[in-house]
Amino acid sequence: LKARKANQGSRRGLQPMASYKVAILGAGGGIGQPLALLIKMSPLVSALNLYDIANVKGVAADISHCNTPSHVRDFTGASELGDCLKDVNVAVIPAGVPRKPGMTRDDLFNINANIVKTLVEAVADNCPDAFIHIISNPVNSTVPIAAEVLKQKGVYDPKKLFGVTTLDVVRANTFVAQKKNLKLIDVDVPVVGGHAGITILPLLSKMKPSVSFTDEEVEQLTVRIQNAGTEVVEAKAGAGSATLSMAYAAARFVESSLRALDGDGDVYECSFVQSDLTDLPFFASRIKLGRNGVEALIPSDLVGLSEYEEKALEALKPELKASIEKGMTFVHKQP
Ligand code: NAD
Ligand code: LMR
Repeated sequence: LKARKANQGSRRGLQPMASYKVAILGAGGGIGQPLALLIKMSPLVSALNLYDIANVKGVAADISHCNTPSHVRDFTGASELGDCLKDVNVAVIPAGVPRKPGMTRDDLFNINANIVKTLVEAVADNCPDAFIHIISNPVNSTVPIAAEVLKQKGVYDPKKLFGVTTLDVVRANTFVAQKKNLKLIDVDVPVVGGHAGITILPLLSKMKPSVSFTDEEVEQLTVRIQNAGTEVVEAKAGAGSATLSMAYAAARFVESSLRALDGDGDVYECSFVQSDLTDLPFFASRIKLGRNGVEALIPSDLVGLSEYEEKALEALKPELKASIEKGMTFVHKQP
């Protein structure tokens, strides 16, 4: 009996603690598959809907055999997208093409802009109250695209639209802990701005625990964090970009969102959201998450920056502004 219980999980373990429904759009891909597996492990999820234009049936059949509470279903192609999204609490979007060596994230715009637009239209029609997590690049443009689509549909709630920048924080924590020989569990580096090149700005002066760095260390760590995506793209040599660390980061952001939906009053993450912290309409910063999405931005992170960070913040604004405008214009230019 003991062995059977160990195999199946305890009775309590088999019962969902809560019953949130999560959909992954692009679930058959490099990020989608491990992300689906990680979300399947969440006790807060009762239903996991996996959507892709191909290859999702096998992924769902495979993951559905894990003895965790959530029920897994697969949906293939546009005709099944609406059903996939019905009553969903969190819609995660990693659909789209990844970079190859030599490309910028913006080089993905022409393909991914349309994919994100179409998927967000379906979210607007089928689960307009859902938290929407945008992973597809270029995030600096795809989030504004999503906002404009939701506005056109009359269902835009800026508190519920998130560009997923958690991977930048995950990387910053890892690299800083390594460099300064810190216990990873204690390290928390806020990363602000956007999610491409110099728009990624780690605030080392605001990290926990408070640590002092030489100017060289600040420069070296900042550049490594900004180029970490490219580091992976080059190592994969044409086989795509970060998928496993991204799935880990996205699963963390989903879990944080579910905890917030479930009433936990102490959930903070960095995310690229509509913002009034700077003169840009969207900006990544630390946010407090609550039942209704973004409960508060954390303006204190941008007060008392180091001279290096102040300069870097001013330097990133023109590029981030242009990427945001490119996304907005794309939606309004559509016939
Ligand atoms: P991938 O090619 O392995 O997977 C993408 C999946 O999207 C495929 O399964 C494909 O069939 C699917 N897809 C394509 N068009 C679709 C559509 N219209 N509807 C539904 N699904 C569709 O790529 P990947 O490595 O998983 O990366 C996906 C995206 O995530 C890329 O744009 C990449 O740049 C981005 N990304 C973002 C971050 C971040 O930090 N935000 C990190 C890594 C990757
Ligand atoms: C990343 O930061 O790893 C992603 O944005 C993927 C990429 O193209 O670098």
